Amino acid sequence: MSSVRPAAVVVLAAGEGTRMKSKTPKVLHEISGRSLVGHVVAASRELDPQHLVVVVGHASEQVTAHLTAADARVRTAYQAEQKGTGNAVRVGLDELGGSVEGTVIVVCGDTPLLSGATLASLAGTHTADGNAVTVLSAEVPDATGYGRIVRDAATGAVTEIVEHKDATDEQRAIREINSGVFAFDGRLLSEALGKVRTDNSQGEEYLTDVLSILREAGHRVGASVAGDHREILGINNRVQLAEARRLLNQRLLERAMTAGVTVVDPASTLIDVTVTFERDALVHPGTQLLGATHLAEDAEVGPNSRLKDTVVGAGARVDNTVADGAEVGPGASVGPFAYLRPGTKLGAKAKAGTYVEMKNATIGEGTKVPHLSYVGDATIGDHTNIGAASVFVNYDGVNKHHTTIGSHCRTGSDNMFVAPVTVGDGVYTAAGSVITKDVPAGSLAVARGQQRNIEGWVARKRPGSAAAQAAQAAAEDTGSES
Ligand code: UD1
Ligand code: MG
Repeated sequence: MSSVRPAAVVVLAAGEGTRMKSKTPKVLHEISGRSLVGHVVAASRELDPQHLVVVVGHASEQVTAHLTAADARVRTAYQAEQKGTGNAVRVGLDELGGSVEGTVIVVCGDTPLLSGATLASLAGTHTADGNAVTVLSAEVPDATGYGRIVRDAATGAVTEIVEHKDATDEQRAIREINSGVFAFDGRLLSEALGKVRTDNSQGEEYLTDVLSILREAGHRVGASVAGDHREILGINNRVQLAEARRLLNQRLLERAMTAGVTVVDPASTLIDVTVTFERDALVHPGTQLLGATHLAEDAEVGPNSRLKDTVVGAGARVDNTVADGAEVGPGASVGPFAYLRPGTKLGAKAKAGTYVEMKNATIGEGTKVPHLSYVGDATIGDHTNIGAASVFVNYDGVNKHHTTIGSHCRTGSDNMFVAPVTVGDGVYTAAGSVITKDVPAGSLAVARGQQRNIEGWVARKRPGSAAAQAAQAAAEDTGSES
């Protein structure tokens, strides 16, 4: 690809996107875990251009902050007024000193499905054909609103691009459209931009006019037809945003399935571009895999789970779970109905069972927290069992404190571990204990009130009640048996 390495990519993203009806600038809307412009920048990076400039205008500070946070090498150029795509490219080139030697690629910031491979193929065609400009075109079912590619009837050569609003009825019947993506000879582009006029229906400087300007000056112009017109879908409203998300999600899932992942129901599975898998991972319906989530070999997730930045180890099982920033060890079991919050680390074959919440907790190998518990700010050793309905009481209203529990412990049901507290290896605790003091290894800790039975209390205090009658009947039964 080095032979077609472009000198620069210019991304046009100054428009407001009024049809989104949003307080967020259009190019910052997200699909599959990345902003629209973020997808375009990522695809552009695959070309390894010497310079990458994004032209910003509407909400420029917000867009610039977003771009530089995602990619420190991105440069931005400020277009004060949106005077058209030609003007926008000029602003972008000004940032690079006005003119660039070599190939300049222009893309719009709102075409998130455009792949690096398609851009590379455009750059390749452009270079191989020795063109001054090559437009990425596509045959679409409905060309309404797009600029049309006009070709010479006899030779088929591209002659000009006519905007929908400026087109004749005959031209409007053309289904080959301008995707808004171009490869240019940098020097010729700068020269031609100086000749672009505004005598059109929108009173704007059209980038598309550069094509006919260059052709009339005797330069080679061409078109590279995209294999799949859906790739150049431009987002103008939220219906198109949803459609693009669906298409990209489908592409990502197909890539995963091709690599050996079973996706039981692609239609109800959503994944981000940054999610990774190993073979034989299995995803059940109703599952969202987000951010840096990774499923190792034979990991099984879902149904109805949302995992963000979570690593699921080989052969682990995660069922009906919400997890964020968690690590699930190999062979571990999570859910159904668990909530793993940031900093949860489950060791190999560990368990976070039903109605269990964990946060900032390291759970050792083979250790089980099976039912109805909260484990926050804790370290638990290996092969320990935490009784049902236990709470790691980590917060005193001001500070968070840590609880440490050793290996091979058997803690009773309904225990409160009031942090900071340390429980040694091999400890047993009684059900209902409130553990406020450290427990030495090998002890049984009992921390609850003694039980007192006041016999005959019901007959005396609730005479004639159903309870009293039941007690009377029980006493008679016992009497007749003896
Ligand atoms: C443009 C093309 C049209 C093509 C279509 C593909 C022109 C004149 N028309 O039309 O042929 O079929 O894209 O989607 O180029 N922008 C700026 N500054 C400006 C104007 C636009 O940065 O002054 C940016 C917008 O933010 C957007 C992109 O350029 O990302 C395209 O602008 P838009 O107004 O959407 O152009 P279209 O009318 O869609
Ligand atoms: Mg427009």
